[in-house]
Amino acid sequence: MHLHGTAKINEHGRLEIGGCDTKDLAEQFGTPLYVVDEALVRQRAREYVEAFQASGFRFQVAYASKAFSTVAMCAIAEQEGLSLDVVSDGELYTALQAGFPAERIHFHGNNKTPFEIEMALDAGIGCFVADNFSELQLLNAIAASKGRKANILLRITPGVEAHTHDYISTGQQDSKFGFDLAGGAAFEAVRQALGLEHLVLLGVHSHIGSQIFEVEGFRMAAAKVAEFAVDVKAKLGQTFRVINLGGGFGIRYTSEDSPLPVRDYIGAITDAIRTNFTDAGYPLPEIWVEPGRSIVGDAGTTLYTVGTSKDIPGVRKYVAVDGGMTDNPRPALYESKYEAVLANRAAEPAVETVSVAGKCCESGDMLIWDLELPKAETGDLLAVFCTGAYNYAMASNYNRIRRPAVVLVKDGQADVAVKRESLEDISRNDVLPERLRKVEVQP
Ligand code: LLP
Repeated sequence: MHLHGTAKINEHGRLEIGGCDTKDLAEQFGTPLYVVDEALVRQRAREYVEAFQASGFRFQVAYASKAFSTVAMCAIAEQEGLSLDVVSDGELYTALQAGFPAERIHFHGNNKTPFEIEMALDAGIGCFVADNFSELQLLNAIAASKGRKANILLRITPGVEAHTHDYISTGQQDSKFGFDLAGGAAFEAVRQALGLEHLVLLGVHSHIGSQIFEVEGFRMAAAKVAEFAVDVKAKLGQTFRVINLGGGFGIRYTSEDSPLPVRDYIGAITDAIRTNFTDAGYPLPEIWVEPGRSIVGDAGTTLYTVGTSKDIPGVRKYVAVDGGMTDNPRPALYESKYEAVLANRAAEPAVETVSVAGKCCESGDMLIWDLELPKAETGDLLAVFCTGAYNYAMASNYNRIRRPAVVLVKDGQADVAVKRESLEDISRNDVLPERLRKVEVQP
């Protein structure tokens, strides 16, 4: 069993996280429950900051809040000195609710709405990451209408395809994101941006994928970006002050995953930028990165209560829990793998192989295939590890199932960061049109 962060098995043989017994957490807050190990989140944030400090570069570590955006998480990111990447009015709103300094917020996305752009400009965010030609015009026009200037980075697709799951590769040429480097769109974007009076071009951005375990992709991206920067400087006389190399740093979900330490990823990036830019006699830029998953992923654990089971002799035993694809759609979407333990009997040896089913009316709602467990009984607690990123963030109300609570655990204290949805929440926005209200029954 691989335990992350402060997780351990306590003297009662139960899983404990952040000094809190998971059995107590389940009793106090109910299940399913997202438990976030605050110390581990902070540790990951510090690993990034310290790796950059050691490099001597000016930097920003922008937490990609799409991985897990809540007011409390934004507050933690702020306290750790991170910047923030947001991709919607909702993520921006969440950050502002947390009092996150607007100048450290970067706004991403391939289709920012006029409302979002206005909201971000009014808040005074640090920069927009411009994604396409129509957006350059839109950003310029809205900034002009407010008598403002908008800082921008241009998102370029460097044509580097990181070794990862197809659905989450974004750096390849055929992508809905960004300006293509090889085909010349990126160069044309710089030319156009420089001609737009209300835009201030800070530099360029590239994101090559997600859950990446090697440094080679980042090195290649850094080299391509440097080559592009040199070309732009020579032809247009524009120097990039900022190079943003995105996120995508991998984490360990199961024993099949072998991520590198944060300092190795950042070391490779800073070395590659230093070498390529120095060799070209180019002033060293600031380096920005956008880790999401690797800040919060392994700090999250989901607690479920075991309900029914179904044994098909010689075929498979299904054990069902009180959540599923509604709180963790990743197995259904990406065939993602997870490890789990019986949290209330964590010290007991495994005696059988079961498959963990969710409670949604859909055969694909399976959380884990072939998991070794002690004999799971109704009422046992199942803890699924590494659910901090893209779980709460992607949760849904499918089957009108209520979204779980999120608790932050630290030094024996557990604090609610998101309340469990109530039944009233489920129909809160429903409206019964007048004409559907109870009709008189005709005799
Ligand atoms: N920056 C940009 C521009 C991105 O598109 C992303 C992720 C990140 C940063 C953060 O990447 P991270 O460090 O978290 O890998 N829902 C999928 C992941 C989608 C990632 C989308 N973009 C999943 O559950 O695996």
